[in-house]
Amino acid sequence: MNSIAVCFVCLGNICRSPSAEAVMRDRVERAKLADRILIDSAGTGDWHIGAPPDERAQKAAKKRGYDLSTLRGRQVAAADFARFDLFIVMDDANAAALTAVCPPEYRDKIRLLMEFATRDDERVVVDPYFGGEEGFEKVLDQCEDACEGLLKALRAQLSA
Ligand code: 4NP
Repeated sequence: MNSIAVCFVCLGNICRSPSAEAVMRDRVERAKLADRILIDSAGTGDWHIGAPPDERAQKAAKKRGYDLSTLRGRQVAAADFARFDLFIVMDDANAAALTAVCPPEYRDKIRLLMEFATRDDERVVVDPYFGGEEGFEKVLDQCEDACEGLLKALRAQLSA
């Protein structure tokens, strides 16, 4: 049986990509596809390696039933490019940073999360780190919308 491995990527791996990871895991588990769709997240930067997600991200996620507390920051590693089928990035800076370290043959694995959104027509998930709590709510709104679209696309791929 085929499977798909997805890595969500942002800058620090403490706000947006762990949020996307948790939302996607929830949708994949509900769809009973946890053995076919493998999920992880990572950052392009190295500042928060080993750190738990930002408290504000954890708090906003918890209110919606997502537990981020066991996640820990990690940086994208060279071995990831062969291991994952898709790198789902939050913004254009993440895409550029990842492309810069990605071997050319794997670059078409990099996609923007918001390409998969169906309700929200914004192009990117903006970094909430330097803003207020409302930024973290928006990140979750965008992740919920786009992860549902991503799941639909992956289901189609799994049954193709
Ligand atoms: P993230 O947010 O990329 O969504 O995890 C950030 C977290 C930390 C920093 C920037 C963005 N930082 O500059 O430390």
